[in-house]
Formats: sequence, structure tokens, C-alpha cells
Amino acid sequence: LIPELKTGLENANSEADLEELRIDFLGRKGRLAKIMESLASLDPSERPLVGKTANQVKEALNAAFDEKKQAILALAQSNALASFDPTLPGRRLEQGSLHPISLVMKQVSDIFATLGYKVAQGPQVELDKYNFEYVNFPHDHPSRDMQDTLYITDNVLLRTHTTPVQMRTMLANKPPLAIISPGKVYRRDSDLTHTPMFHQIEGMYIDTKVSLADLRGTLTYLIHSLFGKERKVRFRPSFFPFTEPSIEVDISCALCGGKGFKNNEPCRVCKTTGWVEILGAGMIDPTLFTNAGYPDDTYTGFAFGMGVERIAMLKYGITDLRMFFQNDMRFLSQFASV
Ligand code: PHE
Repeated sequence: LIPELKTGLENANSEADLEELRIDFLGRKGRLAKIMESLASLDPSERPLVGKTANQVKEALNAAFDEKKQAILALAQSNALASFDPTLPGRRLEQGSLHPISLVMKQVSDIFATLGYKVAQGPQVELDKYNFEYVNFPHDHPSRDMQDTLYITDNVLLRTHTTPVQMRTMLANKPPLAIISPGKVYRRDSDLTHTPMFHQIEGMYIDTKVSLADLRGTLTYLIHSLFGKERKVRFRPSFFPFTEPSIEVDISCALCGGKGFKNNEPCRVCKTTGWVEILGAGMIDPTLFTNAGYPDDTYTGFAFGMGVERIAMLKYGITDLRMFFQNDMRFLSQFASV
């Protein structure tokens, strides 16, 4: 049996060949098994000797198989190594980057962190009272209209701004308060320059002697940190239900510098007015302090709010709002080094 196996093993070149041989010799119905069966018909006096020999044969067969198996494995390994070319260039791992919206939110949060502001968050599915009522929107205010706001029920809606986060923060805490609230907001609006979901960052500072001068200083610092000190900043009177007085903030246009272009082509960033609106702000209306349960005439504060997409477009020169939502790698990967 052993010499027969040796010839068989010499011709076996793969693990499959080897397995076939093993079944033939050592399998349950294999050659060795047949010999073992025949032991039963032997004279009892002969059995021990023949049995012992059969076991030795079995061991020898097993050893021969193991040896050949090692040899086949070693060969396979050295073949694999021979076809491996260590001089080939490696495969580069793709490195992710932050979305421009996340980048701007992070930059603004970092700037306000240096001024001691904390980040506050609130639900995107909001109650009417926090989104509108407590922040001084009259019942017939146009933005409460079904055409502007996405309602879930009469009293539940998708927040249209992050101002409810300010109201919730005021209700839960006593001044001094300095927070910003970055997050998603929703409006019933969809065209080239509006998406039904967009991002806002609002902020507020409340203490006993906060003035409009503090607001101007803080926002100027924000704008210079975001866009560079060479930008001019302009404050204009405006109106919001939750602030009095209210202002809007413009920055000077970096594209045409307010001078327009030689051929009279209108500037696509500022329409050649020289200014771009980037923020709404104002002194918090005392009605909100009353709604928050604060004592009369104790606190003053300012609030401001900005659209993140708008800031990102101005900062990075993005001309199409849809870019933010298409997840095109050619667009997104440009922000890897920012
Ligand atoms: N909530 C305003 C908006 O959504 C922005 C704003 C916030 C204005 C705070 C003034 C003060 O447009």
C-alpha cells in the first residue's frame, strides 16, 4: 500500500488531487478500511500482529499525506510571491472632506467659541408657540401662511428659522446668556435661489447692559474673521417681529468692489450696488423677555441670524445653490484642503 501511495503522491499537484487520494486510501470505504474489515475473518491468534501492522501502515500513510500537503502549500505561496510586484504603485485611499455647509457652520461656531458663546440646539419639528407666538409674530403674520410654512398639524410645524431655539433657551435659563444655534430650517419655497430645507445660524447675547454698540462690534468681528478685515460692513434699519430696533447687515462686494465692470455688465454678486446683504439682527424685543418670565426692565440683549448657504456661496464663490445638495464629488472634493 505504501509504495502505491508514494507513486500517487508524486503525481498529485494540487490540494484537490491530494484529497482524492486521501479518500481512496484513508476514506471510510478506502483501501485501508477494507483491510481493517478483513481483520474480522482472521484467526484470533493472528489478529494482534496484523492489527498492529495495519496501524503502522495507517500512521505512515498519514505522515506521507501531511508531508505532501505542506509541500503543495509552500509551492502555492512561493508562486504567489513570485507574481507579486513590490514596485507597483499602491492604491491611494480616498480621503473624505467636510461639506461646505459643515465647514461654514464649524468656522462660525469656532469664532463664537472664542467669544464665549455656547452652542444650543432644538427640535426641527417645532410647536407654533416657539416658532411664532412667543417670538412676537401676530396671528395674521404672512409668514404663518400655509404657503410659507410646512405644517404637520395646526400647532406643529417644521421650524422656519432657528429663533425658537433662542426662545427655548431663554425659557430654560436665566441671563447672562450667550448662545448660537446652528441647524436646518424649512420653508415652502423652491426655485433657483431657494430650497425647502436650508441652514441657519442664529445667535443671541443677553445681560444687564447689552447695547446696539455691542451688536455692531460682535458682528463686525464675525464678518472680518469670516471674510477678511478689508471687507467694509454696513448696518441698515429693517424689521423683524422679535427685535426692536432691527437691522440688516451688508458687506462690501469683493467681486466688483462696487465699481461695476467696464462694459456695464451687472455684477452677479451685488448687482453693482457694491453691497451684499448677509445678516439680519437687532435688539431683542422686550416682549420676548416677558414671555420668558424675566423681570421687567432688567435685561437687554441682541440677536442675529444668517443663512449658511448664502455665506458659503459668498465665501467660496459658489454660483449655484443646487451644488450643495447634489453630492457631486467633483464639487465636494474641492473643499478637502480648506
Ligand atoms: N429669524 C430671522 C430669519 O429667519 C433672522 C434673524 C434672527 C433676524 C435674529 C434678527 C434676529 O430671517
